Amino acid sequence: MAAGAVHKGSLLGIEHLEVAEMESILRLARKLNVNRPQPLLRNRRIALLFYETSTRTRTSFEFAAKALGATTTLVQTAGSSIEKGESLLDTGYTLRALGADAIVIRHPSSGAPSHLAKHIGIPVINAGDGMHEHPSQALLDAYTILQHKKTLQGLKVAIIGDIFHSRVARSSIHLLSKFGVHITLCGPQEFVPDVAATLAKGLRIARNMEEALHGADVVMLLRVQKERLSGLQIREAEYVDRYQMTPEKLRLAKRDALLMHPGPIIRGMELTSEVADGAQSLILQEVANGVPVRMAILVRALAKTVARVGNPRKSTTAGKVSTKTKKTTGGRASR
Ligand code: NCD
Repeated sequence: MAAGAVHKGSLLGIEHLEVAEMESILRLARKLNVNRPQPLLRNRRIALLFYETSTRTRTSFEFAAKALGATTTLVQTAGSSIEKGESLLDTGYTLRALGADAIVIRHPSSGAPSHLAKHIGIPVINAGDGMHEHPSQALLDAYTILQHKKTLQGLKVAIIGDIFHSRVARSSIHLLSKFGVHITLCGPQEFVPDVAATLAKGLRIARNMEEALHGADVVMLLRVQKERLSGLQIREAEYVDRYQMTPEKLRLAKRDALLMHPGPIIRGMELTSEVADGAQSLILQEVANGVPVRMAILVRALAKTVARVGNPRKSTTAGKVSTKTKKTTGGRASR
């Protein structure tokens, strides 16, 4: 079947997303609350198609969909016809024929969600594709930062760890650089090759933590993606020694620096337990914020009109909830 137009409710990546669009998702997320369910997606069916493992992303998409009154079904490689060799497109067509209105997909191959979106005609949401992008994670991280900082513009963010294999890093770099953040990438050559600096304008690479952490407002740690190393040997002890986040190293950043990690965290590897559970850690807040942000992404994908989101007198178009929230301009997301 020939490729067609991607449904405009799809969310495939951050790289090609406008700042205004991201601001609109973040604004909408602030109006949505999992504890105050709103049936904006009643009678809608959302398929969660996961070819890779997931805990927080899958659960939060599911809770988000259910809080909006949608029905969900989970399809995983094990126990589905994927095991019998069914192709991605055939699985997609099958889910659509069964009545799926949207597909949330996680896949080990970069580009799989775009490929599906070009053929399927319903919204496709990328929940992580290979080493490419993880747009909902970048959005929920921006949302989390903005709960603590007035604006993203001008912040100094250090991203530390296995950036090369990380779709989270790629999406966050695109998002933060579009919002005017000064980003420093830090890690050994294997994880932060020099070419990583070309991902966005103005990226800086630091090989040592002191340099990366100096003046940082936000510190984002990343897991070593052992499943994607494909033969690359890392000297764990050396990595831990140089790049593991400890309370002492964290003190090199600003006193009120925010400590973030998309999870899953590996205690004793990229960070110590004191850091993971410390006062500066937002790790569980990021997890919790996954629900409202994914609610907003699903509403944008599926709701024809978002009526009464957070304001019973207003009726407005999906993703363009007009509220009394301060107007922001491109590159200046603020709360
Ligand atoms: C990440 C992922 O799967 O890309 N996890 C997540 O969704 N929060 C990061 C990781 O696996 O390290």
